[in-house]
Parts: sequence; structure tokens; C-alpha cells
Amino acid sequence: MQTASHAHLLTVARMVVYLYFCLCFVFNFLKISKVFFSPSADGVCVFKCLVNRDTEYCRVGKESVLITLGYNSALLQFKSHSEYSTFSNALKRCWNQKKEHSVFNQRTEEASAAQYFQFYGCLSQQQNMMQDFVRTATYHRAILQNHIDFKDKVVLDVGCGSGILSFFAVQAGARKVYAVEASSVAKYAEILVRSNNLSDKIMVLSGKIEEISLPENVDVVISEPMGYMLFNERMLESYLHSKKWLKSNGMMFPTFSDIHLAPFSDEQLYMEHYSRANFWYQQCFYGVNLSSLRSAAVDEYFRQPIVDTFDIRILMARTVKYTVNFTEAEEEDLHRVEIPFVFQMMQSGLIHGLAFWFDVAFVGSLVTVWLSTAPTEPLTHWYQVRCLLQTPLFAKEGETLSGKVLFVANKRQSYDIQIVAVVDQTGFKSGNILDLKNPFFRYKVLLRLKMSALKLSSNTVFCKQEHNYHNRSGDWLSAVPVVGAPNPLPQFP
Ligand SMILES: *[C@@H]1O[C@H](CO)[C@@H](O)[C@H](O)[C@H]1NC(C)=O
Ligand SMILES: *[C@@H]1O[C@H](CO)[C@@H](O)[C@H](O)[C@H]1NC(C)=O
Ligand SMILES: *[C@@H]1O[C@H](CO)[C@@H](O)[C@H](O)[C@H]1NC(C)=O
Ligand SMILES: *[C@@H]1O[C@H](CO)[C@@H](O)[C@H](O)[C@H]1NC(C)=O
Repeated sequence: MQTASHAHLLTVARMVVYLYFCLCFVFNFLKISKVFFSPSADGVCVFKCLVNRDTEYCRVGKESVLITLGYNSALLQFKSHSEYSTFSNALKRCWNQKKEHSVFNQRTEEASAAQYFQFYGCLSQQQNMMQDFVRTATYHRAILQNHIDFKDKVVLDVGCGSGILSFFAVQAGARKVYAVEASSVAKYAEILVRSNNLSDKIMVLSGKIEEISLPENVDVVISEPMGYMLFNERMLESYLHSKKWLKSNGMMFPTFSDIHLAPFSDEQLYMEHYSRANFWYQQCFYGVNLSSLRSAAVDEYFRQPIVDTFDIRILMARTVKYTVNFTEAEEEDLHRVEIPFVFQMMQSGLIHGLAFWFDVAFVGSLVTVWLSTAPTEPLTHWYQVRCLLQTPLFAKEGETLSGKVLFVANKRQSYDIQIVAVVDQTGFKSGNILDLKNPFFRYKVLLRLKMSALKLSSNTVFCKQEHNYHNRSGDWLSAVPVVGAPNPLPQFP
């Protein structure tokens, strides 16, 4: 193949060019091009260009394509018509891909996506998730214990990150794994695949599932698409989108998810939230009266869902469960999710809000494996999430609390949450509107407490008694916070 100016085109057109090249397209087309165009192991790169919607190309004769790049044109002449049409179809598909109109781009602000993929591009973030023992070990178990669902199968890993789940699929006997990753961590996944000698089994495709294309349909989709409160990040939609590549009797791993919610009583949490806003109550802050902003500050703090864990004794009723069935659900089903509830109060007291957590189930042919983020189970990096009510509600044992939680998707890869609740017997009513994109990571406070307990034992730091917290494991209860202790856990979006 050659490049030439228009003037020399006719001469060039007579030259025979070889197929042993690699074309590098935008939309991360590189990997696909290998599928279609590499008759030999690596091919020889004689020509490289980017193809987008503005690229001009046309057919010349039966077996050639002319691509115009700025002031230059390249004539690609193929050995046979079938090689020509394979290439030309791929080119057409690539050209037709309306990047700016992909499902993902339509539902996401650019700034949000940029920040999101930058976050997951860091190895430290991948490490953080991989080190979540419950998460990683449960996925490992779910896949390996259902090895017959993977043996000799074609698998798609949606948002593969470091590629860890793809490796599990290969361990279970998968014939081929397509590992799709939109963040820059894809390059690290590729390095891991190569250094583990699995290039023949795992193909890393760098791009969004909504925009990439696969050379074949798959038997199983694996993914870890869950965010805080299950829905945050809106990655579940990408997971459901991937079903366009799933064979009709194919399997989704995880298969479904249950969200649980329950009313809780936690006076301390409520007061803590209020007192955070009290900063703005000051009438003489360096001589400035701040108090006109206090109610705005209270509103802002109450819009934040709280990410941490708690003692299950704060729960005042049995949970209500809502199931998202990944086999059945469509992307659009997650644009607006309404969860109605009726709670039978099992104790009297003030209801300060609703607590949320989720489980996912891997329904394999051999066993069903559960990954749970419940407060009764070992803690995961999803913690649990609580939403406060603007005004606490008093209810007595035996009364019912009914209402609904409404999740409305927004373009910041998250949800606006609306809660309305009424005590049916008294008519006491409350609610709140929250922004899931901007949660309050209260677990840092707990973590600091735990760290200080460690430091205390080596007698190296001064501490001052401030709070007592509910304990889950028993070892934090009398811990005291260290002033200025580091904050080792990064934030999850
Ligand atoms: C991968 O293959 C190379 C060459 O075939 C070999 O030297 C190396 O030990 C292999 N590595 C692993 C992890 O199997
Ligand atoms: C500060 O502002 C608040 C509300 O605007 C007002 O009620 C209060 O009197 C002011 N305090 C002083 C000391 O001016
Ligand atoms: C999910 O949907 C599939 C297909 O309709 C059905 O067979 C399965 O029982 C459902 N699972 C749950 C947990 O609802
Ligand atoms: C703290 O946890 C321990 C062990 O689980 C338990 O025995 C103890 O009662 C708990 N204390 C409180 C106040 O929750």
C-alpha cells in the first residue's frame, strides 16, 4: 500500500498492495481490525491512519478502496473480492458509528464521563476494588463453581478494569473472552493478559460497550456494574446494553439484584448532620454574619445520602425488597425506578430515614452464589447507604409506614432520589430529595476511629475523646478519634 497525491493517483492505482497492514481507527478500532485483517500473526504495519465520520473514502474498481486523508490519498488494493468486502464492511460500520449519538453519550454529560473514566483509569482504584475480599472472592467462587457455564464458551466482560474477571473466566475454561474497558486502565489489562500468556484467549477492547463492536456473539456476560445503592454510576445500563451481543439463551453473571430498604432510628446521625450546618449559624465569622445561609446549608447536607455502616439494631422494621432482573430488564427500565413500600413497625420511636443495601445473585447451572452488602454481612467497599428524612417521624410498634422511593436518572451518571413516607395511622408525613452523585462518606470517620485504636496501642499519638459509635465487630466501640489522622480510603464515585 502507498500514499500518494491526487496527481499520482493513477500510477498508484496500478500497484498491488498487500493486506498485511494494520489500520488504526478511532473508536478503538485497532483490536477489531486485527480480527478482520491479520492473516499472519502480527501483520506488518505499513500504513496507519485515523478514520472518523469526516473521512472520505470511495470504492475504486472491484477490489480497491481510496481513502483521502487531508492532502493525501491512499489506495488500498486487496488480493480478493472477499478480503475487499470484509474490509469495506468494517470501514462502513466504523464510519457510521455516530460516536456523539451513542446511547452512553446521550445519557451522560462529558465532564462526568471524563472524571469517571479518569477515576477508574488509576491502578490504585483497581487495587482498591480487587482488595475488597468479599467482592473478588465471591466473583471467583461464582465463576469457578459454575465452570460448566464457562467451559469452551465465549464470554464478554463489561467494564473489565484490570481484567480480573476475564482471568477467572479463563480459569473456568472459557474459550474466548472479550474484555471491554472504556478507561485508560485497558492498557494495563492488556499488559496483564500478555504477561500471563493469555493473548490467544483474552482480547482487551478499549472503548465503551455502547460503541465497540465484537466479531461474534457471546454465551455469557460477566461484569461488576454495581455502584453505591446499586444504581450509582449508571453502569447497570451499560451491562444491560451488552445484551445486544448475548446469544438468545445466553447467561448474565450476575443474574439479578435485590435492593433492600428499611426505616432506621439514629438520633446521633441526625444531630451530626444538623451540626455540620451550624457553621453557617455564626453571626460574626471574622466579622461577617453567615446566618442567612444556614437553612441553605442544612438543605444541602440533607440532600447527601450517607455512606457508612451501622448496627442492625437501629432498623425498625423488616426490609422491603425490590428486584432488578438483569435477564429481563432493558436499559430504559433504569431511567426511572419506583420502589413502593409498606413497613410494619417492629418498635416504637423516631424514624430518621431509610437504610439501603443490595445483594446480587449469580444463578449458574450448578450453584447460585450471592454477593451481599447487607449490614449483617462482612463489610464491602459498597458499605450501606442511608437517606435521612427532613423531619423525623414518630411511629409506634404495630403501625405502618408507607410511601415510595423514586430514583430518576440524571446525566451525571447518577440519580435524583425522592422519598415520601407517611405513618398511616396518624397521618404524620415526611420526605426528602437527595442527590446520589454527592454522598457523604461518613465511613471515613469510622475508619479514623479504628486507626486511632491501633495507634493508641503503640502509644505514639495523643487522642481526645469525642464520640462513641455503634459497633459491628465489637472492637471500635470505645475507640477515640485521632486529630489529623490520615484518610487512607479513597472515595468511590
Ligand atoms: C509465557 O510464555 C513464555 C514463552 O513461551 C515463557 O517463557 C513464559 O514462562 C510464559 N509465562 C507464563 C506466566 O506462563
Ligand atoms: C444576622 O443575620 C440574621 C439573618 O439574616 C439576622 O436575623 C440577625 O439579626 C443578624 N445578626 C446580626 C448580629 O446582625
Ligand atoms: C428473571 O427473569 C427470567 C426470565 O424472564 C426468569 O426466568 C427468572 O425467574 C427471573 N428471576 C427473578 C429473580 O425474578
Ligand atoms: C459490640 O460488639 C460486641 C461483639 O459483637 C458485642 O458483644 C457488644 O454487645 C457490642 N456492643 C454494643 C454496645 O453494641
